[in-house]
Amino acid sequence: MPSFHPPRRLLLGPGPSDVPQRILDALARPTIGHLDPAFVGMMDELKEMLRQAFLTRNNLTIPVSAPGSAGMEACFVNLVEPGDTVIVCRNGVFGGRMRENVVRAGGTAVMVEDDFGQPVDPEKLEAALRAHPGAKVVAFVHAETSTGARSDAATLCKIAREQGALSIVDTVTSLGGCEVDVDGWGADAVYSGSQKCLSAPPGLSPLTFSARAVEAVKARKTPVQSWFLDLSLVMAYWDGVGGRSYHHTAPINMLYALHESLVMLHEEGLRAAWARHQANHERLRDGLAQLGLDLLVDARHRLPQLNAVVVPEGVDEAGVRRALLDQHGIEVGAGLGPLAGKIWRIGLMGASARPDAVDRLLEALATLLGRAA
Ligand SMILES: Cc1ncc(COP(=O)(O)O)c(C=O)c1O
Repeated sequence: MPSFHPPRRLLLGPGPSDVPQRILDALARPTIGHLDPAFVGMMDELKEMLRQAFLTRNNLTIPVSAPGSAGMEACFVNLVEPGDTVIVCRNGVFGGRMRENVVRAGGTAVMVEDDFGQPVDPEKLEAALRAHPGAKVVAFVHAETSTGARSDAATLCKIAREQGALSIVDTVTSLGGCEVDVDGWGADAVYSGSQKCLSAPPGLSPLTFSARAVEAVKARKTPVQSWFLDLSLVMAYWDGVGGRSYHHTAPINMLYALHESLVMLHEEGLRAAWARHQANHERLRDGLAQLGLDLLVDARHRLPQLNAVVVPEGVDEAGVRRALLDQHGIEVGAGLGPLAGKIWRIGLMGASARPDAVDRLLEALATLLGRAA
């Protein structure tokens, strides 16, 4: 069997995004022991850089050794105990996964529903909290990757906090691409992914817990049912007082990659990175308008890094996506759930958020759709 050599692609889907050579080079550095003092020093830098990216001073800020879904699960299994009520806001596919997590942790999920493509409605959340005053947690997705809608995280976290509930916030697609302000929002448990606007390969989930969330974990009456994701055990490795103890073998080279991606984010500047995502979104939006293509989400709630494009009547959605990949080497995403077949999802995330990538996609679309770019 020969070695595997992947084709070169321009990744403009819902993630992963293009990984810069500098991050791939970091990944290829020599593997050392996960308790080696040099490695432990790198872990401390990584935690600090994650705090800067999340805009938080939370002590418990680490990358979970698995993809974004594991960050999501870590939040639910640590904060939800059997019998707890959790308000889950669903305005896309990932809110549905949150519900699954609540149910599997033995909790009762109270759903706040909004249409796919809409942001979470704060008034509906307020009404749900009034109807369920004992709710322990409010969970929502800040950046819904399935639709490209951004919800008002500051307002939703404030509502949760005023009612004495903790908040779990999914920032898998937002971290590094638009404003995520964990301390400013007063959010309690927030997770993300390495493969979107941070442009590292998939496989790690940055996570941060507020002091209130840590207290809630400590106050549990039952042990966390997941041994691997039990944060009190994981922290003995990431934060061990008087020395780190073995929990699991950390994905050492992947952590080098995440470290490098955060160094690059730091060099660019967090706000400059947000502005770059916005500028490239506007370039794409204008180019799509010239091609007569519409975006699904209202301008007020649009994410710059995930653009849901309405497939015009009579156009073969899957055929265009396939031709983009086969003829132009460009990956874009399909619609999920009720939006399957109705939209293309164009990601401008991390290193993929650049003008030449936008222009290449617009030219390819113009060719395939037979319209003038
Ligand atoms: C909003 C959101 N949450 C969670 C996930 C799950 O992340 P992963 O695929 O890395 O497990 C994704 C992945 O696309 C996502 O977009």
